[in-house]
Amino acid sequence: MTGLPSDTSPGPGCGTLGAFTRAQLVRLCDVAGLSAADTETYAHTLIEALGPAAERSLALPPPGRTFLSDDHTPVEYSLSFSPGRAPALRVLVEPGFGADTRAENGRIGLDVVRAMARRWDFSTERLDEIEDLFFPAKPKGPLALWIALELLPGGVPKVKVYLNPAASGAKRSAKTVRKALRRLGHTRAYGALPKADGHPFLALDLGRWETPRVKVYARHPGLSATEAGGLSRTGSGPGPAEIQEFLRATAATDDLDRRPGLTCHSFTETETGRPSGFTLHIPVRDYARDDREVLDRAVDVLRGHGMDPAPLIRSLSALTTRRPKDGVGLIAYLALAHQQGHPPRVTAYLSSEAYAVTPPTKLARRAAAGV
Ligand code: TRP
Repeated sequence: MTGLPSDTSPGPGCGTLGAFTRAQLVRLCDVAGLSAADTETYAHTLIEALGPAAERSLALPPPGRTFLSDDHTPVEYSLSFSPGRAPALRVLVEPGFGADTRAENGRIGLDVVRAMARRWDFSTERLDEIEDLFFPAKPKGPLALWIALELLPGGVPKVKVYLNPAASGAKRSAKTVRKALRRLGHTRAYGALPKADGHPFLALDLGRWETPRVKVYARHPGLSATEAGGLSRTGSGPGPAEIQEFLRATAATDDLDRRPGLTCHSFTETETGRPSGFTLHIPVRDYARDDREVLDRAVDVLRGHGMDPAPLIRSLSALTTRRPKDGVGLIAYLALAHQQGHPPRVTAYLSSEAYAVTPPTKLARRAAAGV
């Protein structure tokens, strides 16, 4: 470091993980139109959820390789757009980041969820009912527990908990998902899901939801636009043509032959066995040279759905001072989400890049240079 002016601007390697992500969250709260009081509450909540990791210097490498983000920052933001209203800001965090073992990581995560439940007075009963399935003595797989907070105006967030179906081994994950759904009363839900290559997450809504969901994520390697169009089992919401178009417009290809696309079906009622929600997640960072390209596609998609792209553009400068074309992955995923009774949403998942920026994709760069 030479002390050039650029060294003082926010970027990887500056300050602590807590200070860095807090400053990002504060700027994003402004983009989402949250009040100063709500912003302070949520910034404080993030720091608390990070625990001792918040104090860790970014000059040190990340203590572990969290699967939450590409550069192993245990925080990711998202902006969820609906037509005609301000986007909802969410933050995803791994409280057990920095723990020595996966088991300890999970224990810390559960403690943080329960502390939030006491603070905001919600029940963790649904989590308690399935806890043993996701927290065995020697958990395996890429995560133990993540928490997502939807930062509502008023200072009380909606809470989602992400669990790892492969905790007892990847081979057992389908069984684990089936058991969890059954215990939660969704006896026929598993049978309603489309064919997939495994389930990376099961998520539970906790806290202030009108209709709390259980969400089952599925991996679809080699997914084509046509196949994607046929994956929703909701019987409502965007039709095959709209889903296909979303894949093509965001990935700029017909086939997701690199990082797989994910779907998520959500279940709310237990009568019909049918899911009430469907989301298609496109890992756009693997299908673009740089974030300039991804942003252009996102802006088109948002406009096409009658949504104002301005907050997304502002959000990138809230995260970093680097130019979008100087890296890839600031926008990690773009998703098209449908929940029965609501208009479709488009969600952009935004990376912190506290530890590192992925350079523009080499393959595409060589192709562009004609090499
Ligand atoms: N980083 C992981 C992945 O890329 C998990 C993840 C983080 C994720 N945010 C996400 C998956 C949003 C889907 C959508 O798969």
